[in-house]
Amino acid sequence: MKHYSIAIDGPAGAGKSTIAKKAAKRLGFLYVDTGAMYRALALYFIRQGISADEEDRIGEVLDDADITIAYEDGTQQVYLNGENVSGLIRTEDVSRMTSATSRYAAVRSKLLQLQRKLAKEADVVMDGRDIGTFVLPDADLKIYMTAGSRERAKRRFLELTEQGIPCNIEEIEKGIIERDERDMNREIAPLAKAEDAVLLDTSQMSVEEVADAVLAMYQNKAAGGNGT
Ligand code: DC
Repeated sequence: MKHYSIAIDGPAGAGKSTIAKKAAKRLGFLYVDTGAMYRALALYFIRQGISADEEDRIGEVLDDADITIAYEDGTQQVYLNGENVSGLIRTEDVSRMTSATSRYAAVRSKLLQLQRKLAKEADVVMDGRDIGTFVLPDADLKIYMTAGSRERAKRRFLELTEQGIPCNIEEIEKGIIERDERDMNREIAPLAKAEDAVLLDTSQMSVEEVADAVLAMYQNKAAGGNGT
């Protein structure tokens, strides 16, 4: 049976995961957060005392890091060697390590297989950096979601402040710009808009407006349109 797939790519903080989660829920699809898989691997490298530039050592230990995902109440959980690490992978240190190590071919090919397998087995909304360009080039609907770096930093700042975590908006924006640079300029599967992806700039849109826009694109596509 052919499964439906929606690919959502874009830079850090553009709102991909919030929207992908909502769209998946409304459509009854599985939400696949590929960033969480790269993050779990990065956590493993940190725990092994490996630094981001040690590509050879990363290649050597990769086989020892088993990444699996499961769904609890419809929410994706990521497991590293049987341990649920979902709550440990959102720190700044892990974010930086993830962006730095996701550029390696061996890291990417390990996770590519898992991502394609998931899309083969279920209807998915999958978000990441290279889903429309590389992981699922035949995705039924591709969206490239973006927003200005200041707006993205502001959203992250509000999120952290709400959780009582002290932070500085300038620092956050600097981190976002650095990550974008690295993700867009790496050699393998860089962050890019697929030619056939719909560009969605969410700078001036509320979460509900973006979710409605994505569902309208899906309905348009399902009815035989071009998604716009
Ligand atoms: O979406 P995120 O912020 O959780 O992703 C963390 C990092 O993982 C991001 O800086 C780049 C990398 N990543 C990737 O290279 N390819 C993907 N499909 C998803 C994430």
